[in-house]
Amino acid sequence: MDLGLGDRTALVTGGSKGIGRAVARALAGEGARVMICARDAETLARTAREIEAGTGGRVETVAADLGEREGVARAAAEAVSRFGRLDILVNNAGAIKAGDFLATPDEEWLNGWRLKLLGYIRMAREVFPHMQRQGGGRIVNVVGAAARNPSATYMMGGTANAALINFTKALADLGAKSNILVTAVSPGPVKTERWDALTRQQAQAAGKDAAAFERERAADFPLGRIALPEEVADLVCFLASARASFLTGIAITVDGGITRGVYL
Ligand SMILES: NC(=O)c1ccc[n+]([C@@H]2O[C@H](COP(=O)([O-])OP(=O)(O)OC[C@H]3O[C@@H](n4cnc5c(N)ncnc54)[C@H](OP(=O)(O)O)[C@@H]3O)[C@@H](O)[C@H]2O)c1
Repeated sequence: MDLGLGDRTALVTGGSKGIGRAVARALAGEGARVMICARDAETLARTAREIEAGTGGRVETVAADLGEREGVARAAAEAVSRFGRLDILVNNAGAIKAGDFLATPDEEWLNGWRLKLLGYIRMAREVFPHMQRQGGGRIVNVVGAAARNPSATYMMGGTANAALINFTKALADLGAKSNILVTAVSPGPVKTERWDALTRQQAQAAGKDAAAFERERAADFPLGRIALPEEVADLVCFLASARASFLTGIAITVDGGITRGVYL
């Protein structure tokens, strides 16, 4: 299947590691011109070189803190100016902590939401007018399946994700007339650096050993394991592609079947 991504330009936030890195690699592998954004310039440069070597594509980088309004505006402007247009935004940078509800102060809630919730909203608001002017675009939000699976040890992330599913639908309504299609990819646990850190925090909050906690969680999954970043990236790539021309306002869960319920 030709995804029709060969002449497309994409900005992937949080593209230096984990899911974002896999998305950037998948898009570059399909011929898209990709810019990755994260805070650490060295990791960004290393990831860009690895993806270029693996795909033969060209990967640009921009170092910015997307928890700050200035960082979001600068990263968006950089993508538009280096590419001349922006066809695809993958909102993915997020790092909300798990923890003990009663011991979590306001500042931590606000910090988590500042990047994950406000960072996605601000970035969409920055790129939207460019996509309107150029006659369309794709926005894919990576929104954890914690949106629909509340957990007592991951309330900051769960609430931000639930809000982002609502935002995705509303933005899809707003974008439809301008041919801007907005979707969410909703992963359950994915084996990344962040997952390893979250497991340690959740195990600690539950008073358990991290390795035993991880084994227990994996055994709960119908497929007996959690996802690999590439399994999430392939869906993001499809939704960003010309082949997904009638999908908007939806959130697709990629969780190996663990979410209960019929309407996902
Ligand atoms: N892994 C999972 O199990 C899982 C499950 C569901 C949803 N998700 C969501 O998927 C997304 C990616 O998760 P991941 O597991 O791939 O994370 P990861 O491996 O920790 O990678 C996070 C990426 O975001 C960047 N980042 C972090 N804070 C940033 C900031 N303030 N400004 C700009 N970039 C920032 C990181 O680079 P720097 O640190 O250099 O900035 C890195 O590139 C997150 O939104 C997460 O909530 C993950």
